[in-house]
This record gives sequence, structure tokens and C-alpha cells, in this order.
Amino acid sequence: MCYSRLLQPLLWLLALACFKQHDVYVNGVKIPVDHIPRQSNPTKLPVDLSLASSNQFAYLAHIDIGGQDFRMLLDTGSADLWVVSSDCTEQDCQGVAKYNQSSSFASTNSSFHLTYLSGSVTGLIGTETVVVGPYEISTQILALANQTSGLALAGTGNSGILGLSFPVEASIPETLGRTLLENIMASYNETERYFAIKLGRDQDGSSFTIGELDPDFANSTSDFTYNSVSPLGNSVYNYWKLPLQGFTINHTVFPLSDSRVSGASSSIAVLDTGTTLILGPSADVDRFWQSVGGAKKTSSGWQVRCDRGIIVGVVLGGGNSTKEYVIDPADISWQQGSHAGEWCMGGVQANDGVISGDWLLGDTFLRNVYALHHVAANGQPPRIGLLGLTDPDASLAAFRQQRGNDPTPPAQILTNAHQSNSLGGGDICGIAAAGGFAFGAVMTLLLCFKPCRGKVSKY
Ligand SMILES: *[C@@H]1O[C@H](CO)[C@@H](O)[C@H](O)[C@H]1NC(C)=O
Ligand SMILES: *[C@@H]1O[C@H](CO)[C@@H](O)[C@H](O)[C@H]1NC(C)=O
Ligand SMILES: *[C@@H]1O[C@H](CO)[C@@H](O)[C@H](O)[C@H]1NC(C)=O
Ligand SMILES: *[C@@H]1O[C@H](CO)[C@@H](O)[C@H](O)[C@H]1NC(C)=O
Ligand SMILES: *[C@@H]1O[C@H](CO)[C@@H](O)[C@H](O)[C@H]1NC(C)=O
Ligand SMILES: *[C@@H]1O[C@H](CO)[C@@H](O)[C@H](O)[C@H]1NC(C)=O
Ligand SMILES: *[C@@H]1O[C@H](CO)[C@@H](O)[C@H](O)[C@H]1NC(C)=O
Repeated sequence: MCYSRLLQPLLWLLALACFKQHDVYVNGVKIPVDHIPRQSNPTKLPVDLSLASSNQFAYLAHIDIGGQDFRMLLDTGSADLWVVSSDCTEQDCQGVAKYNQSSSFASTNSSFHLTYLSGSVTGLIGTETVVVGPYEISTQILALANQTSGLALAGTGNSGILGLSFPVEASIPETLGRTLLENIMASYNETERYFAIKLGRDQDGSSFTIGELDPDFANSTSDFTYNSVSPLGNSVYNYWKLPLQGFTINHTVFPLSDSRVSGASSSIAVLDTGTTLILGPSADVDRFWQSVGGAKKTSSGWQVRCDRGIIVGVVLGGGNSTKEYVIDPADISWQQGSHAGEWCMGGVQANDGVISGDWLLGDTFLRNVYALHHVAANGQPPRIGLLGLTDPDASLAAFRQQRGNDPTPPAQILTNAHQSNSLGGGDICGIAAAGGFAFGAVMTLLLCFKPCRGKVSKY
């Protein structure tokens, strides 16, 4: 869950105030070896509309823990499974379903602690029966949270987090048990060792499948463009990360500063369903909005005119698998609820605390792709397959129809980073030319020589 660790508290609060509720369906999960089928046919779970009018925004999956139903934040940016327990009496954990200890729970007597930028979770590690969709895992390692702070669970309506990242990132020691994802994948045929996620724009249209595709979005795994996950080190993987070559603004290349990740030849982006926005280095984000125009920087982040309609592309991958994925203008000029104001929240925001990579691609990006996460199998590294789902012309036309005419002058790409105090002094920047994207543009790369600030490491 990178969102609260990485969003500035103010931005986080503002973001909390404008989120909407979505549910994610669990489709055909196959039966892992040590798991017992509960129903003969995998079916889509019913939509739970009880939080439909909530002002919050999060993608929640229903899972059953110890015979009790919970909505868990689906988080590709963390690796633990934890649920708030009835022992939690803080205000912070009120207003959501809490786990009551059942006879199938077995304690390990080990404690659990996770610290976020704006909060923390403390609890007890144990095993319990977990049901995902139609299947049951009898001894799943998880944490029962008896204390949370700074998470305001009622705000997002989730009772805990279902982490889908790599075991190396888990706070629950690997020696105590396998992650839920590992348990589910263990019995899968290698070609099916994947999960696929589509985040919806509204109540419907979200999908989470394991070992199969959702025909609403793709029928064949060959529809996707694949890249190996960028490793943390030698064959060690921590997050669902990819090379990020740059952005485009109105079809013109917007170059990024050098990666802060040591040894990386391009920026590194982390796909993270648990983060709401796209987050990146402040120098690049400031220059991005100055290039887009019709935007202003406020104490709670960048805001952009609600009628600013602009096509932004994200250029991801390496070599001949490099591809541009287009973002719907409504995710860039992000309207909070149905209220039509003059200023909307920018879908791209600055955060210099991202240390898992250079950029976090959260929900404002992920709503525009169907993302296949293939875990390592048969000696092959884990891979990410992406399928772009946003049509630039159609989405811009729909945006104009909804938001009206855009009076702001055309975007003007700033290739030269503004000297920004937040980057710290002593940065020496220069311009160099480099060639070759899949879409044929010549890119101007901004080279910055700066003190080593961020390293890829555990939080
Ligand atoms: C836990 O027990 C309380 C009190 O019996 C009950 O109100 C609550 O619904 C239970 N929690 C869940 C998730 O079933
Ligand atoms: C946990 O502690 C209890 C009480 O001290 C003990 O009975 C139990 O065996 C311990 N469990 C483990 C897994 O160590
Ligand atoms: C929460 O659980 C941990 C681990 O069992 C324990 O050390 C701590 O005292 C508990 N805290 C509360 C508030 O119950
Ligand atoms: C895995 O499944 C695919 C498709 O069903 C099949 O072609 C392949 O032979 C299977 N591989 C193994 C090792 O079972
Ligand atoms: C997948 O196949 C089904 C059945 O032929 C079809 O209805 C659906 O539109 C297809 N999905 C896509 C994304 O093409
Ligand atoms: C990329 O290019 C190399 C060499 O030109 C080729 O062998 C490889 O199959 C290509 N990969 C893809 C995904 O097209
Ligand atoms: C995008 O570029 C076209 C020409 O290339 C220009 O006419 C249009 O105004 C630009 N739109 C924005 C929003 O900058």
C-alpha cells in the first residue's frame, strides 16, 4: 500500500475526500493443490452497492477470512495480507467490518508491524482459512491488526489489505508461510500463473481474474505487450516495475529526468493499484504541468482546469516492446464526484518519497490498461503484459462533450527542467539527444547529475 506511505499527508487527505467506491470481481480462480473447492462453478461475486454513495475511492475485493466476509484493498504495491481485528479499538479502525477470532485461527505468537508515511499497523501473525472467490486456502498466513493509526479505514471502506506484490516485500517473514498470491499460483500450470486486473471508471467495469482473462477486455494472452519485471537485484523482484521511457503530451515527447534508481538506464515505474494517482519526482511533475498549461500549484498539489482536455501518453517497456499507453483526459483533469467546478485535481502529482522506483503509476494510469501480471515460472522472470484500452480521439471527444470547450492555449512542452528547490541544490542539468521510440519520435533526454538520493530498497 504505497498510497499513505508516499502521498504527502495533505494530498492524501484531499484525495480521501474525493474518492469513489468500486468493487472488483473475482473470476475463475483455480483450485490450488492444498485447497478445497467450495462451489463447483466459479462465478462473479455479486456487486455490493452498500458503499456506492461513499465519497471514497478504492478498488476492493471481497474475500472471506475465517468464515467472515471482508472488503480488502486490492494492492499490487505491497505483499502482505492483513485484516483489522475486533481487538482494534482505535478510532482509526472504526466503521469497517472487523475480524472475530475463530477456531480455525492459529497464532504464530509473532507480532506484525508496518509503518507508513502517515500511519502504521500493529498486530499478530497467524494462520486462518481464507476463501478467494470459490476456493479455500486452509492455512493462509496473515496478520490480525489490533492497532492502526493514520489509515482512517472507514474512509476507504476496507478492512485490510490484500497485497499482490513479491514476497521479498512482505513484512510477514517468508519463513512463517507463503503469501496468498504464492499459495494460489503454486498449483497453476506455468502458462496460467498470472492474474489480470482492469480498474473500472464507475461501479461496473472492474475485473480481477486469476489464471484466465476476462473476455470483456481480452480473449488471448497474445493481445498483450510483455516486458520482464525490472529486478531489484540479481533475479530478485520486489514490485511490479517496468522501464518508463517518458511521457507524451498532445502526442509530443515529454522527456524525464535521469532515473534515481542506481544502474537503471531509464526511469523505473511501479504499477500500483493501491495508489490513486500517478506520482513522480517534483521537478518533472512541475515541468509536466507547466507544459500542459491551465494548471496551478496549490498547497495540496497540482490542480488543473476541469475543461483542460489533453491527451497524455505513458511510454513503457524496453527495446521493441516499448509502447505508448494513452490516458483518458478525465484521469489527467480529475473531477471529484459529479460537481463541475473550475479546478480539478491533477491526476499526476509530485512525490519525492517514491523509493521503489522513480514513478508510481496508480489508478489514474491503470484505469486505461488491462494489466496481466505473470509471476516467475520455469526459470523465466516475472513479466507484465499491458493492453491499452483508451482511444485518444474518442476519449478526448467524450471529455469535450462533458466538460465543454477548452480555452487554454495549446500545450507547450518544456524539455528543460526548472531549477526546483525541492530537488535540492547542486543539481547540474544538461540536454542530450537520444533516439528511438516505438512510435518513431526523437526524444530529448534531460540529463541531471545529482547526489544519489533514492536507492531501490525496502520501505
Ligand atoms: C464480529 O462479532 C461482532 C459481535 O458479535 C459482530 O457484530 C460482527 O459482525 C462480527 N464481525 C464479522 C466480520 O462478522
Ligand atoms: C504461542 O503461545 C502459546 C501460549 O504461550 C503456546 O501455547 C503456543 O504453543 C505458542 N504457539 C506457537 C506457534 O509457538
Ligand atoms: C497487539 O498485538 C501485539 C502482538 O500480539 C501485542 O504485542 C500488543 O500488545 C497488542 N496491542 C493491543 C493494543 O492489543
Ligand atoms: C499448460 O496449459 C496449456 C494450455 O492449457 C497447455 O497447452 C500446456 O500443455 C500446459 N502445460 C503443462 C506443463 O501442463
Ligand atoms: C471475446 O470473445 C467473446 C466471444 O466471442 C466476445 O463476445 C468478446 O467481445 C471478445 N472480447 C474481446 C475483448 O474482443
Ligand atoms: C525484438 O527484436 C529482436 C531482434 O530484432 C527479435 O529477436 C525479437 O523477437 C523481437 N521481440 C519482439 C517482442 O518483437
Ligand atoms: C495539440 O496539438 C494540435 C496540433 O498539433 C493543436 O492544434 C492543439 O491545439 C493541441 N492541443 C492542446 C490541448 O494542446
